[in-house]
Amino acid sequence: MSLRVALIGYGVIGHVHAPIIKEHATLCAVCDTDPDKASDFKDIPFYTDYKEMLLKEKPDIVHICTPHYLHTEMILTALSMDIHALCEKPMCINETDIGRILEAERNSKAMLGICQQNRYNPANLYLKAAADKAATKSATGQLCWHRGKDYYMSAAWRGKWNTEGGGCLINQALHTLDILQWLVGMPRALRATVSNMTLSDTTEVEDSAIVLGEGENPFVLSATVGFACDQAVSVSLMLGERKMTAEGNRVYEGDTVHVFDNARELGKACYGSSHETLISDFYDCVTTGRHFPIDGAEAAKVIRLILAAYKSEGKPVTI
Ligand SMILES: NC(=O)c1ccc[n+]([C@@H]2O[C@H](COP(=O)([O-])OP(=O)(O)OC[C@H]3O[C@@H](n4cnc5c(N)ncnc54)[C@H](O)[C@@H]3O)[C@@H](O)[C@H]2O)c1
Repeated sequence: MSLRVALIGYGVIGHVHAPIIKEHATLCAVCDTDPDKASDFKDIPFYTDYKEMLLKEKPDIVHICTPHYLHTEMILTALSMDIHALCEKPMCINETDIGRILEAERNSKAMLGICQQNRYNPANLYLKAAADKAATKSATGQLCWHRGKDYYMSAAWRGKWNTEGGGCLINQALHTLDILQWLVGMPRALRATVSNMTLSDTTEVEDSAIVLGEGENPFVLSATVGFACDQAVSVSLMLGERKMTAEGNRVYEGDTVHVFDNARELGKACYGSSHETLISDFYDCVTTGRHFPIDGAEAAKVIRLILAAYKSEGKPVTI
């Protein structure tokens, strides 16, 4: 029988999730506080109150595609009702909420999954397989994108500490930082500088960050959304003399270029193409009882790194 799936938040990323849900399950209801969004869902119930939707529809799974500051409360509500929750990144935006979410996960019969879909990119999986065989490794990541005033003016929650929880690091570069720690492991300590070089008249938060993960297996992330345009994210893994660089669907290794078949791209190219792969894996876990790999504890790792980066001001912060 097809899984009954509900969706909260039909904004930019909700538009990517909805067609995938329809293809792999039954989209049974949608909730958005903007009632105009109902016009896309004439055949299924539409709600403006997510708690009412969860109570009345009792879906098997709910996708949470809302602004960052709402994730914790929505995850806690779904898990308390034993409804499986697949939430967009970031899982949450402060340390207290990490604990609340992990406790709710332990007390629930339902599963929590967080959409850190770049872990499913074939090029990143190639690096991960090599990294897992090596004891000593290091990694670098670079993200150069453009997010201008129009992006930050497109929704009131963007660009503010209390609603977005940060800027370039917690939003755009979260995936790259997550891939770095996934490849080489959590650092012993972290140093970071964050700055707002191009958007200080528009946002409270950083547009750029340098993050150094320190320990046996170090990493460095350099990220900015103050560049002129979006470039492909680049992640390099170094194992002694061996260096592999993943960019899009390619891995460059010496003179060799490995080209992978990516899943189809839905939404902006910079989201990558693995939303569908992650969502169908989550559905498979719900159906079979297999544990979903990006659970609360796993997603908490990158949140802890980001919160440490915001504290650091260039000085080491123990992780
Ligand atoms: N994984 C990725 O690559 C990726 C890409 C883009 C966005 N995202 C994440 O998706 C989430 C949403 O981002 P977005 O760009 O779609 O934002 P958005 O502002 O475009 O959409 C958010 C939607 O949520 C609705 N909403 C707000 N409060 C609500 C509430 N209380 N109940 C129900 N609906 C509510 C809004 O009306 C809006 O339609 C964020 O966490 C963002 O970081 C992830």
